[in-house]
Amino acid sequence: MANRKITSIDDLSAKDIQSIAEKAIKFKNSKKRILENKPKNIFNLFLEPSTRTTISFELASKNLGYNSININFEKSSLSKGESFNDTMDTLMSMKPDVLIIRDKNNFSPMEIGKRSKIPVINAGDGTNEHPTQALLDYCVIREIFKKKKIKIGICGDIKHSRVAHSNIKLLSKLGYEIHIIAPTYFLDRKDLKKINNKIIFHKNLNSLKELDILMMLRVQKERIPKGAKNMMSSFKKEFCLQNKHLLNKPYLMHPGPVNRNIEISDDVLDNYPKSLILKQVEMGVFLRMACLQYILK
Ligand code: NCD
Repeated sequence: MANRKITSIDDLSAKDIQSIAEKAIKFKNSKKRILENKPKNIFNLFLEPSTRTTISFELASKNLGYNSININFEKSSLSKGESFNDTMDTLMSMKPDVLIIRDKNNFSPMEIGKRSKIPVINAGDGTNEHPTQALLDYCVIREIFKKKKIKIGICGDIKHSRVAHSNIKLLSKLGYEIHIIAPTYFLDRKDLKKINNKIIFHKNLNSLKELDILMMLRVQKERIPKGAKNMMSSFKKEFCLQNKHLLNKPYLMHPGPVNRNIEISDDVLDNYPKSLILKQVEMGVFLRMACLQYILK
């Protein structure tokens, strides 16, 4: 199919999501490197910091026998003042087979997708979406629960979290019961209701008893408006996850990086037996292999 893209969960049907997840889990279980016959050039343009996402895309490309070309802000002409569109046109003229982009501006991957026929993968755009993170989170959930319709809680800075937005879209598309736990200053309730009007909202961590999975999110310090930094300390006081909140023993997820003792206490982060956080990192590589294969098909 021509012109595939993963700029948003909206680009994927429930069937696409399931087949990408099945492929990723298959890659994980086979542990073999799968070399494709024809090498492809995969450009990774990361204009915001990243550890997990950049490395996993690079490893995924290499596992498939592709060339992975990494461009970061300091090394690109953007740092010399070249306009964003001029840099994009320059990169596209080199005809990459896929462009993976992370940018601080919402919707820039979608805009690049419109300027060019080259397939684009969104590796995180501002506060908007991070579809491959949601897909890998789903793979981890599916590995444990298969297709059982469990209850999933998402807690923290929902408003500024692209991970939350993609996860809410994906889990809604697949019919999961979603619980959102957040203070009002970290909530974009109206936007969420537009995605799914069955979302159940909670004001604190005391009502978590029914959850099968609790997904904590990083407080997005860099996206909180200046002058509102006290949100961080208020959040820490009320929402920092402690053992006392985990009596029902849900599985624990977090996309990383974690602000220790802001979202999750040291004690939980270092000792909680049902944490899936490193499993999410591991799955990231296999999921991104599956996404590259999907987009290049
Ligand atoms: C996320 C991101 O950058 O959006 N991290 C990631 O990709 N694993 C989450 C975050 O930074 O909070």
